[in-house]
Amino acid sequence: MTAQILDGKQIAQQIRQELKQKISTQCITPELAVIIVGNDPASEIYVRSKEKACQEVGIKVDTYRLTPDSSAEELINLIDELNNNHSVNGILVQLPLPKHLNPQEILTKIKPEKDIDGFHPLNTGLIIQKQPSAFIPCTPKGILRLIHNIKHNLSGLNAVIVGRSQIVGLPISHLLLNENCTVTIAHSKTQNLAEICKKADILVVSVGKSEFITKDYIKPEAIVIDVGINRTPNGIKGDVKFAEASEKASYITPVPGGVGPMTIAMLLENTYEAYLKQNHS
Ligand code: GUN
Repeated sequence: MTAQILDGKQIAQQIRQELKQKISTQCITPELAVIIVGNDPASEIYVRSKEKACQEVGIKVDTYRLTPDSSAEELINLIDELNNNHSVNGILVQLPLPKHLNPQEILTKIKPEKDIDGFHPLNTGLIIQKQPSAFIPCTPKGILRLIHNIKHNLSGLNAVIVGRSQIVGLPISHLLLNENCTVTIAHSKTQNLAEICKKADILVVSVGKSEFITKDYIKPEAIVIDVGINRTPNGIKGDVKFAEASEKASYITPVPGGVGPMTIAMLLENTYEAYLKQNHS
């Protein structure tokens, strides 16, 4: 049997369409400020697609470009200005930052109610406490939306998350725990990884290693979510060997066209929600 494709591109398109409709009927213009420090080529591409997606649904987006040698103080001053600007609903600092800047220190300066990336420690805490007011980071939120598209009740399922990043691995672990999954977090020091992954009803892989997960890591009928975007001489590849994994999984996300478009759709949704929270409408 071959797995069904979890078509993130199509699901994201539908979410964007619905958001566009809501924004237009409510006659509102949510506003997002994007800060990019330096000129990392991958970040440039991501920021451009975020800008385009915002404009398409009626979110105003302003991008602030800082030189690679900008100081923490300059960046924090800009964040402060945007925190105090009432027309700005969401603030996004594109990661990664240049090495001399500490992301934890910088992201803490964003007002939690404008933290549409969900990286502020307050939002992290609210997720762990299962508070609905939390801003959920875009990639994990998009992953959960994809999984819910095929299965609503995840209670009791074994979820294995490979990768423990602040952006993906840790928050998706909490979200799946909140869904009553039995969650295992695996990482670069984990022993017997294949054996652990083989127990997963839901396998989420976010390690940044091209085609790292082969069919030997996959339980028959598993739902496989591939978060990897690896630029290789053979084009963009995920963290999962797609063709052979598809022979065992029940559902699998493609790369590109799986998780990536969902991340952007969730950014739009979080910005819209930030607007509503700030305007109590
Ligand atoms: N870099 C990679 N993913 C993300 C993300 O979700 N948000 C931000 N701000 N930067 C990123």
